[in-house]
Amino acid sequence: MPHRERWASRPAFIMAAIGSAIGLGNLWRFPMVAYENGGGAFLIPYIVALITAGIPLMILEYALGQHFQKCSPGSLGSIKPGFAVIGWWALGVGATISFYYAAIMGWSWDYLVFSFTQPWSGGSENAAEFFAHVLRRSSGPGEIGGISWPVLAGLAVTWAWIYWIIKRGVLRVGKVVMITVPLPALLTLLVLIRGVTLPGAVEGLIHYLQPDFSAILSGKIWLEAYAQVFFSLSLGFGILTAYASYLPKRSDISNNAFITSFADAGFAYFAGFSVFSVLGYLAQAQGVPISEVVEGGPGLAFVVYPTAISLMPGAPLIAAAFFLTLLTLGIDSAFSIVEGVVGGIRDKWGLSQNATAAGFCIFGFLVGILFTTGAGLYWLDIVDHWMNNYGLVVIGFLECIAVGWFYGTKKLKDYINEVSDFQIGWWWDLFIKWITPLALGWAIVANVVEEIKVPYEGYPTWALMAGGWCVVALIIVVAAIMTAIPGKRVEREEGL
Ligand code: PHE
Repeated sequence: MPHRERWASRPAFIMAAIGSAIGLGNLWRFPMVAYENGGGAFLIPYIVALITAGIPLMILEYALGQHFQKCSPGSLGSIKPGFAVIGWWALGVGATISFYYAAIMGWSWDYLVFSFTQPWSGGSENAAEFFAHVLRRSSGPGEIGGISWPVLAGLAVTWAWIYWIIKRGVLRVGKVVMITVPLPALLTLLVLIRGVTLPGAVEGLIHYLQPDFSAILSGKIWLEAYAQVFFSLSLGFGILTAYASYLPKRSDISNNAFITSFADAGFAYFAGFSVFSVLGYLAQAQGVPISEVVEGGPGLAFVVYPTAISLMPGAPLIAAAFFLTLLTLGIDSAFSIVEGVVGGIRDKWGLSQNATAAGFCIFGFLVGILFTTGAGLYWLDIVDHWMNNYGLVVIGFLECIAVGWFYGTKKLKDYINEVSDFQIGWWWDLFIKWITPLALGWAIVANVVEEIKVPYEGYPTWALMAGGWCVVALIIVVAAIMTAIPGKRVEREEGL
């Protein structure tokens, strides 16, 4: 009877889960979302979202994988065969995200190499132009343009790296995360120390932290808080279920979920200090208000940060440290998504880890070529928006329904309490059955209304259809096919 592979230890599992959660989003998303939504006051909705949706759902995802000893489709399918489709949908969204996440890491590789010559120095405009030049950016999503060879090379290196880490399963993953989790934290601390000693830094921090309590009354801030918690904790991609399925059935769940969630939130808050001290410095150096330099996402990492660093003494070294931070922050998130998908496919057909990983990595690289073209950045932006708004939130909602209304929260809770370091109470049932699905349902409706009112970022409708709705539809079709076709019956361990 084949035995399921196992993590080497509990810390290996926890570090891997934290590595998945802590990613680019902690650095380039959280600080900006906080800044735009009440500064220090944003912590209130954020912590509420963490407690009312993030942690309960993380407990649920861990418990599913660990209890059924299967990845997301298999676990949900054990509740009711048709529910496997939710799991495949989650993996479809995860796979799609991995295609462009790897492209972003490809840029980071290029920028790590460029750090030593600083070809972007000379102000934000130069840096923005340089970024467009590296990507061979075209005029819009309709103009595919040519392939950027440096980005393609970076993409290939990234996929080779992912393959190397996961090809033998979670044993190597457990070793890699012992470096890729602490290293970016240490490097962020170094940039923070450098950052706060620069002129203007305090001004930047004031903008990050100054609370605007009136913002709490708006609905938008709450929506942002829930969205950020989900994205940041890597919920709704089938990752945590896959990781937990490699734990023995009698392992702690609730404590692990609290540790992972607070580590992730803590890192995001701390990364904000590093980001805003650098932004404060840049604003002062350029003599402009902070609001002019604040930017999130790729613009922050590949334009604003490089500009600020180029003005500091020792720029090449600091820039290299920064891009190494991006790479090590991103890699454990990237391979966690891939492992979620590979694990799901393996469970279904009993394939070997090496062959499945190799096949998926090659496929991911080929699809990712789209993101190395001149229109890549536009497509990345569109696909990202849809995956985050209609992928993970919808899946989180469906998971709550599957467990809350079909499997029964009490049954799963009894199991969780039997194996965990500490007990979870009635609140968990209440959240999974009512509060979390209601909060998520509200977020979904609010998002769709917003979508219809204002087309995302003013892209042409056909591009939003193709990169948004059609991708979502395609994922659902593939998920349905994966659910319908029979898999290979693999003997399971006792008592599952
Ligand atoms: N949680 C990661 C972050 O904050 C993002 C991520 C998304 C990771 C999808 C895995 C899967 O950046």
